[in-house]
Amino acid sequence: MAEFLTLSEVVKQARRNLDQGAWDYLVGGADTESALRRNRAGVDSWVFKPRILNDVSDVRAGTELLGVPLRIPVVMPPIGSIQVFAEAGGAAVARAVREFGILQILSSVCTPSFEELAAQVPGPRIYQLYLVGDEAWMDDIIQRCVDAGYTGFCLTADTQTYSRRERDIMKRYVPLSGRVAGSGDFSAQARMTWDTVAHIKEKFDIPLMIKGVATAEDAARCVDAGVDVVYVSNHGGRQLDHTRACIDALPEVAAAVRGRVPVVVDGGFMRGADVVKALCLGADAVGMGRFEALAMAAGGEKALLNALHILEHEVKTSMALAGAAGLEALTPDLLERLQPLGPAHVLSAFPLLEEGY
Ligand SMILES: Cc1cc2nc3c(=O)[nH]c(=O)nc-3n(C[C@H](O)[C@H](O)[C@H](O)COP(=O)(O)O)c2cc1C
Repeated sequence: MAEFLTLSEVVKQARRNLDQGAWDYLVGGADTESALRRNRAGVDSWVFKPRILNDVSDVRAGTELLGVPLRIPVVMPPIGSIQVFAEAGGAAVARAVREFGILQILSSVCTPSFEELAAQVPGPRIYQLYLVGDEAWMDDIIQRCVDAGYTGFCLTADTQTYSRRERDIMKRYVPLSGRVAGSGDFSAQARMTWDTVAHIKEKFDIPLMIKGVATAEDAARCVDAGVDVVYVSNHGGRQLDHTRACIDALPEVAAAVRGRVPVVVDGGFMRGADVVKALCLGADAVGMGRFEALAMAAGGEKALLNALHILEHEVKTSMALAGAAGLEALTPDLLERLQPLGPAHVLSAFPLLEEGY
């Protein structure tokens, strides 16, 4: 595999490598895909107001999350069936992420299993669980997660049922997880409440992340309930359609959280400049789901590591050119809202591909 020099090349190679079924599963969203497009339109609607004559000869973008050093403020979100994109699945992500120096959130619907992965690729990691059993079942998994040395435990709260993803339905495509609209038992996910959060916090000593927060009210309630990481997400536009862009929910969530716990955001962040925008608006770290899946599809572990290096270069270049030598300089007054240049879509961060590059 030749080295990629741009993220556009990574995306192009991913498209070449995937058949239509896997491609649509990766890029698609729910219903009309408006939430998916809004995520991107939201990111595109913020522009930089750069500051000049600051010394940016040494840009520092490193941080930490739950005590784990992050080389850049980025996490790799849970991707179900990631083995569709590269055979080694979660293990390939784990190796790339460990070598680069960020954090992986492993989905419960991919291979290898969380215990196998902990044995194969030791290192800090968060485990995201979809509930498919009763409280005793969940407790057993969380305990095993603690025993396997996981850094944190994540509940995805925006998946009370499986959404209708028409690209998949119209092709009769069934992801490896077997999850399609109207099938599978989502009753345990649907029954999840604040009592579930209280129960986990009372019984287990492992940092808890709630993924799928979309409002200031729920963010404040998470903090009150002892949640350790508030994760703003609309599941990449794959669950409830017609939601706000995640970047639009971020400022009110950050204001409600008031720095008491870290805030992670995902949804439409594809490039280094996108990451910098989210940090300006109050995120402590940014999740990049399709970035992760596309890089895996482009060439597994090696391509993901390659893509992360390009991303780091983009992050640091954007920070330097915005006049920010460190993360503390990334504040909302570096941004302004303007009309996006054109209609957004899931890959509109890569306009050169539309010109045939
Ligand atoms: C192919 C695919 C599979 C996903 N599987 C999961 C999953 O198993 N659990 C989960 O919480 N989120 C899952 N997500 C959502 C991501 O974790 C993340 O929230 C989303 O991709 C962020 O949006 P972005 O792709 O625009 O970065 C999945 C997303 C994609 C694209």
